[in-house]
Formats: sequence, structure tokens, C-alpha cells
Amino acid sequence: MEEDFWHNRWQNNQIGFHEAKPNPRLLDYFHELDLKHKSRIFVPLCGKTLDIQWLLSQGHQVVGVELSDLAITQLFASLSLEPEITQSGELKHYHAKNIDIFVGNFFDLKPSILGHVDAIYDRAALVALPEDMRQKYAKNLIEITNKAPHLLLTYSYDQSLTNGPPFSVDQDMVQTYYSDHYTINLLGSEPVPNGLRGQFPSTQSVWILKP
Ligand SMILES: C[S@@+](CC[C@H](N)C(=O)[O-])C[C@H]1O[C@@H](n2cnc3c(N)ncnc32)[C@H](O)[C@@H]1O
Repeated sequence: MEEDFWHNRWQNNQIGFHEAKPNPRLLDYFHELDLKHKSRIFVPLCGKTLDIQWLLSQGHQVVGVELSDLAITQLFASLSLEPEITQSGELKHYHAKNIDIFVGNFFDLKPSILGHVDAIYDRAALVALPEDMRQKYAKNLIEITNKAPHLLLTYSYDQSLTNGPPFSVDQDMVQTYYSDHYTINLLGSEPVPNGLRGQFPSTQSVWILKP
């Protein structure tokens, strides 16, 4: 997807992917990461997800990356936090207590900018990208996090019926992207109620990836 596609989505408030409460699968399965208090969780392509609020409420630190300034301004407003904003390489760095968000392109994020992360939480990030970008995304994610453990949510459906995002990512694809570096386990899988966009039968799956 081009950057303009997402900027237009945010400008026109076409953000059907944004959920009104923390994702139930995060609440159900986060403990599987088995993290210490105050762990630093990376949320790639984070938007203004309320999952960040939930992670902070559990005593963790959050680091995110997101293309849209608008999304991150709204995120900090929803958290009632006033960020300090600086420039960090190609990215803008929004910082407040326990939270660092980099605004810019995920592919410009370097390990020296990101810093140490204890775990990755990917909801609607991998599936937001078309196949040619997903390979690159997974490779970069592994590199910049030094293979941090990973909680991953995916959708799978018949891609010939409709186009993404979200794109269909099935078990074989998860294996292709990550099996060289992680042991992959499926934690849960269930049909999406009413299907994708209310039309297309779809399954949502939750994966745990451990190095
Ligand atoms: C489908 S949304 C999911 C947002 C969030 N994870 C959630 O669950 O609500 C995908 C987000 O990724 C952002 N995005 C897309 N490509 C990106 C990139 N290359 N670098 C950083 N952010 C990107 C978009 O602006 C959008 O907010």
C-alpha cells in the first residue's frame, strides 16, 4: 500500500479497523508471552489502538510506529498525555512516560532508534500489507527486534472473493514469514462473526511466536 492510501484513510476518518475497546484476543492471550512487569512491547503500525491503553494499564511500556501524525495526535489525546516531540532520523518521536511512538514509515525504523523490545504485538499490521510488502515487513520486524517473542493476530479468507486490506494471511504464509526464526504455535482460531465486511467467510487466528 502506498503511504497516501493510509493518510487519506485517516484524513477522511475511514478507519473501520479501529476498535472501540481493547481487542478481546489480546486480553485472552497476552499472558502467553509470559513477560515481566514493565516489559517494553512493540506495537507496529499501531494507529490509535486502545490496545496501547490496555498494555500501559498492565504496567508495561509501549513503543509503536505509525505513518499518520493525525492518528498519533488522537492517540495521545485519548491517553490524556502531552507528548514531547523530537526528530529521530527519518521519524518523529512522540514521548511520554512509558510510551514512545515513532511517526513515519516502519521501513525507516532502525534498531538504534527503536531500542530494546521484550515482545511484539501485531494486530492488523501484517494483514494490512500486500504480499510483496509482508515478506519485507516480517524480515525487518525480526531484525529490528532481535527476534523478540511475538503475539500475532491474522485473518484468513478466500482472497479471490475480495481484496485487502485486511489481506488474507493463512498458516502457510505465517510459516513462510517466520518459521526460520521462531517456533510457531496456534493459540486459537474462530470464525469472524458475519464474515469479513459482513460478507466474506473469514477466520481470525492468534499465534504465538517464540525464538
Ligand atoms: C489496519 S490499520 C491497524 C492499526 C492498529 N494496529 C489497530 O489495530 O487499530 C494499519 C495502520 O498501519 C499504518 N501504516 C500502514 N503502513 C505503514 C508503514 N509502512 N509504516 C507505518 N505505519 C503504517 C496505517 O496508517 C494504519 O494506521
